Amino acid sequence: MRIGVDYYPEHWDEELWAQDARLMAQTGVKLVRLAEFAWCRLEPSDGQFDFAWLDKAIGIFAVNGIDVVIGTPTNCPPRWLCEKHPEILPVGDNGQTNPIGIRGHRCFNSPTLREYTGRIVGKLAEHYKDCKSVIAWQIDNELEANICCCEVCNNKHRDWLRQKYGTLEALNKAYGSVVWSGEYSLWEQIDPPYGGYNTAWLNPAYMLDFRRRAAEDVTEFARFQADIIRSHIPDAKITTNTWFCNNLPDFYNLFASLDFVSYDNYPTTSIPDDSEDIHTHAVYLDIMRGVKRKNFWIMEELSGGIGTWMPMQKTTRPGMIKGYALQAFAHGADTVVHFRWRTANIGAEMHWHGLIDHSNVPRRRFAEFAELCKEAEKLKNLESTEIRSDVAILFSVESEAAFKLQPQTDGYNYMEQIKLLHQAFARYGLNVDIIDEHTDISQYKIVCAPELYITDKTVADRLHDFARNGGTVILTARSGVKDEHNNCIMELLPTVYRELVGCHVSEYDPIGWGTNSVRFEDGEVFKCKQWCDVLEADTAEVLARYDCDFYKGSPAVTVNRYGKGTAYYVGTIGERRMYEKLAEDILCKAGVAYIADLPENVEVTTRTGNGVTAQFIFNDSDEEKAFTLDGRELHLMPFEMNCTLKK
Ligand code: GAL
Repeated sequence: MRIGVDYYPEHWDEELWAQDARLMAQTGVKLVRLAEFAWCRLEPSDGQFDFAWLDKAIGIFAVNGIDVVIGTPTNCPPRWLCEKHPEILPVGDNGQTNPIGIRGHRCFNSPTLREYTGRIVGKLAEHYKDCKSVIAWQIDNELEANICCCEVCNNKHRDWLRQKYGTLEALNKAYGSVVWSGEYSLWEQIDPPYGGYNTAWLNPAYMLDFRRRAAEDVTEFARFQADIIRSHIPDAKITTNTWFCNNLPDFYNLFASLDFVSYDNYPTTSIPDDSEDIHTHAVYLDIMRGVKRKNFWIMEELSGGIGTWMPMQKTTRPGMIKGYALQAFAHGADTVVHFRWRTANIGAEMHWHGLIDHSNVPRRRFAEFAELCKEAEKLKNLESTEIRSDVAILFSVESEAAFKLQPQTDGYNYMEQIKLLHQAFARYGLNVDIIDEHTDISQYKIVCAPELYITDKTVADRLHDFARNGGTVILTARSGVKDEHNNCIMELLPTVYRELVGCHVSEYDPIGWGTNSVRFEDGEVFKCKQWCDVLEADTAEVLARYDCDFYKGSPAVTVNRYGKGTAYYVGTIGERRMYEKLAEDILCKAGVAYIADLPENVEVTTRTGNGVTAQFIFNDSDEEKAFTLDGRELHLMPFEMNCTLKK
């Protein structure tokens, strides 16, 4: 397992480069990521390329045994290019061209941008094709599925719709554009969502198509660059660094043409007092491993207190730098690259702290990082070992986008139930996979399929088959609500899943910040919030009923036998403990071994392969934890990781 750092030679005097590289080598840093925002230095004027400075930096790192990841600089077109070709700049929903000077100022569809992108990426790939130290390529930076409203994008969107619907009649029908007299009689009338409206005011079917196309565009932009790199370096290892941004790309498609997944991992430095507030980043790490169902990299890892577009946050507490990086390994990362070596003394991000402070005097955080490097070295032969799980959670890119377009109720957030279910199973010391809703699930014993809001018949059929053949599925409220166009289905909820779960929704109550509670048959009561499906059982057995309000006594949680398997339906959003109770019951019944008595916020995961099994025990909390596991007395300091290798 390798540790790297993000480094910006262009931000520092050249004398520092060698000094930094030497210290990196002494500390155990194995690689650096370079150049992802440096277009203005790589091509100072149109067609004039200057790679000498990058050659020099790469050379210095090579002498010190440090490998390089090159970032293509397309996130930041230089000023000369924006001035010469303003058509490369994206247009916002106010119809105005976005100003330059921050970053991300490029329209993925602009033919001019493509031309200049193709040229700089091609030049870089050609120049470094024989350079042994360049071990991987990062495309752009944190690509997002933004909607650009320029004319190129508008025309592209109209063509895309023509392809999809064939006729305006079909489109009007799919969009229900008769509502508010929105019917189209010409393709040219279809504009992007101008006006800066809250998306919930806009037609949901129309909006979801924009999201879909924006996700395709960003995927295509990455593929375009990857193809160019591969045309010079056929065996190049190519990635892009992603994160959970507002306009989420479709990770599964985005990475399909890339070699590995990279994630920018910034867990919190403020551990919440409220245990209902799930702070662990394990869920995001498991999502990333699930994207290609392969191990991944962290391309940016938390190093110090963060702060740029928000006030500065708490510094990394002792244990976090080491612990959070090892946690990423424990969930399937093979390489962790820290953002950043030294805190910037210039530019907008000078308060987003690196491993070393502005003073350039290494202190506490750096000492901890040095320990991490040693620890990672010891885990070297775990590289490419696998995480195997009996439990999977389905992630729905489409539903995630649709919920953002139409918030369901106050406080409702798609990720929350993913987190609650993940947490419930992880609580018992299990590996948990989080995978694309469209993938094969036959290898699992238990599949959580929360909030499948946009209905895909194939997904629904697969879940039925899975249960029929003996699997256990868990569905939740807001499943089967919408058809593929993002319109409501005219059937009792959960529509296509009704037979599977053996119950239906008689009515629902979006209680938002209000509360209710559910009482289980054994008398245990849990608070619930945001959403209450008032259920009626068809064939299902009732596990819990509402305890308050006019639907007191109505079913809230049910279980149904389906074929050889079992289907649970959770009609509300409960406290953490409610999901833990359900998970324990499900694990017992499904015959999956688990650890019953782990302290809260202690995670246990395993990586297997290369003739070993590594058990990772992580204290993801700011309190010491003393407990017994498999007959061993363990005492973990805050954020401490214990890794035990078994033959
Ligand atoms: C990431 C981004 C980096 C840097 C970092 C800290 O989102 O990729 O370039 O901006 O955040 O702000």
